[in-house]
Amino acid sequence: MKRIDRSTNEAIHRLKALFAELYGGHPTVYRAPGRVNLIGEHTDYNDGFVMPAALNLYTYVAVTPRPDRRLRVYSENFDEACDVDLDSIRPGKSGHWSDYVRGVAGVLESSGYKPRGADLAIASEVPLGSGLSSSAALEVSTAWALLSNSEINVDRNAIPQICQQAEHLYPETKCGIMDQFISCHGRAGHALMLDCRSLDFQLLPLPGDVRLMVCNTMVRHEHASGGYNTRQGECQEGLRALQQALPEIRALRDVTIDELEQHRSRLSPLIYKRIRHVVTENERVKMAASALQAADMAKLGELMADSHRSLRDDYEVSTPELDLMLELARDQKDVYGARMTGGGFGGCTINLVHSARAGEVQQRLEQNYEAKTGLSPTIIICEASDGAGAVAET
Ligand code: GLA
Repeated sequence: MKRIDRSTNEAIHRLKALFAELYGGHPTVYRAPGRVNLIGEHTDYNDGFVMPAALNLYTYVAVTPRPDRRLRVYSENFDEACDVDLDSIRPGKSGHWSDYVRGVAGVLESSGYKPRGADLAIASEVPLGSGLSSSAALEVSTAWALLSNSEINVDRNAIPQICQQAEHLYPETKCGIMDQFISCHGRAGHALMLDCRSLDFQLLPLPGDVRLMVCNTMVRHEHASGGYNTRQGECQEGLRALQQALPEIRALRDVTIDELEQHRSRLSPLIYKRIRHVVTENERVKMAASALQAADMAKLGELMADSHRSLRDDYEVSTPELDLMLELARDQKDVYGARMTGGGFGGCTINLVHSARAGEVQQRLEQNYEAKTGLSPTIIICEASDGAGAVAET
């Protein structure tokens, strides 16, 4: 099994050594975490509710200023360099990893922040493309590095929207605000319930004996990004149809289950199912927040199971591998709750597991998943961590 190196000091030393080799000099290092979403999937772009936690898996960016208007960028994960001219960044997608860096720099420029030229080296321990929000971790860490490097005060409240806009305009994924928000505002030991309309949030302590177990199915389906934008479009189509009867609604977040049933005939069976997921998922998030506050793990587990079913049957973003990983987890008595996490079409499930049994559960899942699929999964036992910031010198 592939094990991820989560030793921060080691990661930083390696990145600094790489930086010295590439550019010379002593950089400052910033980092932003990936995330796991406990519940509230595909609700953020409908102004709804989500409940993610930041993970102790980070993207690190080492940076020093340059006297000109260039960004020289090197990615350790891709073993590749690219160059960005700050004076000629234009929106649009190239399909290259640098779209995220270009995007953040472009949106900072167009919002009037005017970052300085910089040399950057980037290394990520968030598995790429696995639904743990490696994109937001890259965007947020880049934004932090570019602003701090330019001695511009970093406003933790402004960064999520800058990064979301970068993702809309450059890689052209019409994502919601969840990933960028939690990457900035995560808190160690806590999940965060976010109202994606008002951006009000509530930090919810996770019981001390619960671990976040992330299970990567190692399968990512090709239609992942296309499928995401399609679902987003289906929600918009449903919203427009319902607005004919309910002109006061601004987003699917404003629709109740009774209203949906009452106006069902306005929707095709497919759009009805999509909306039923969003409406019921919003309710589940609110109930999950109460369950977590009461440390009622049995209730939280039920809600997570319902969420998975709804994502599988109504929203249709699960895969046979995610369903299997979930079934295998459910057979284990020390798993409080399990579901797919993130946008779907492959990627990861999240299990809430008793800390004393986490190692055993991990081993059994690895063996059982491999026996059934022939694939060796990456299973990581994580902790909820703090959001983005500078990394202290060690
Ligand atoms: C991706 C997006 C998020 C959110 C989730 C699904 O992670 O980036 O904004 O929509 O999918 O909940």
